[in-house]
Amino acid sequence: MNIRLELLDKPQWRALPETDEPLPFGQLRTNHMFLMNYRDGAWTDARIVPYGEIALMPGATCLHYGQTIFEGAKAFKHDDGGIYLFRYEKNCERLNHSARNLCMPEVPAADQMEATLRLLDIERDWCPNMPESSLYVRPFMFATQDSLGVKPSAGYIYCIMLSPAGPYYPGGFSNAVRLLITTRYHRAVSGGTGTAKCGGNYAASLQAQEYAKKLGCGQVLYLDAANRTIEEVGTMNHYHVESDGTFVIPAFNDSILKSVTSRSVLELAEMGGLPLEIKARQETIFLDKFIADVKAGKIVEAGGFGTAAVISPVGAYLLEDGTEIAIGDGRVGPHSRALYEYYANMQIGRRPAPAGWLRKVEKYG
Ligand code: COI
Repeated sequence: MNIRLELLDKPQWRALPETDEPLPFGQLRTNHMFLMNYRDGAWTDARIVPYGEIALMPGATCLHYGQTIFEGAKAFKHDDGGIYLFRYEKNCERLNHSARNLCMPEVPAADQMEATLRLLDIERDWCPNMPESSLYVRPFMFATQDSLGVKPSAGYIYCIMLSPAGPYYPGGFSNAVRLLITTRYHRAVSGGTGTAKCGGNYAASLQAQEYAKKLGCGQVLYLDAANRTIEEVGTMNHYHVESDGTFVIPAFNDSILKSVTSRSVLELAEMGGLPLEIKARQETIFLDKFIADVKAGKIVEAGGFGTAAVISPVGAYLLEDGTEIAIGDGRVGPHSRALYEYYANMQIGRRPAPAGWLRKVEKYG
């Protein structure tokens, strides 16, 4: 792919703020972004330009009918000074899965990878080197055709922006979240867009999130509307830990997003041979049995797996009738902690990672 560079003059470059405080999540921007347009059936004009506004017609399909998808991945600074991108192939595949789900054009995975590595190379000084921090990579695509007919757009923009980021939840991993189990709101339904990372799924989650907040909960546990099985937690996959230390993740179905973190945990468990012995499996989890097993002490920990927070432990569940169910002793448990420490250290190169999981951002040219 031919990438045109239209970079700011060096004196105009801003730099990563120097601070010992944790960086906010998702607020900071780097100097440049990658852009590419889809028109007449092909991707064209790949370019890296200063980060800034994108012109859009008021009738653009994304603004009216939500034809927009995104990804989230992370790059980390290692002790050798290099920047490493974690399992980005999985994000490229998933972006194309989302694109198919929303009748949008795919972006060849090799082009997504090349564009991201090139942008990361230019912005390498923005990669923070603090605990629980990373250079968050946000690729996204949206429909640009100026047309009010409800149909797939003929034009799109694919963009990659970067954001140096600290922990997703203020307080980071050590903060056990209180979760509202809701039967009132649903994130996605079978046959819909639940497996896609599309804007609509996140817009649909806002009302539930606000409702949870009013009831003193940090997030929502979503159930399958028909079967009362556990689906997702906030923007993450749910997990629980049985008393023998096995991590259990809901079986993926057509309304659950396949988290790269969940898949990595399952793959680590399957591979074995790591300094941390991980046991993990997937199954359909019925809420009533889950609650009974928590009360009986058969389930000792729980939480969420996702790229942004990595692992977000749960301290207690609140039912809509006001019943509160603590999990374990209500604090971050040893299995979640051990997995988090292994996983986070693997991402920053201080623990062995399976071959191919970390890709070094080479200096271009
Ligand atoms: C993730 O953790 O994977 C997410 O998608 C969170 C993001 C929406 C900020």
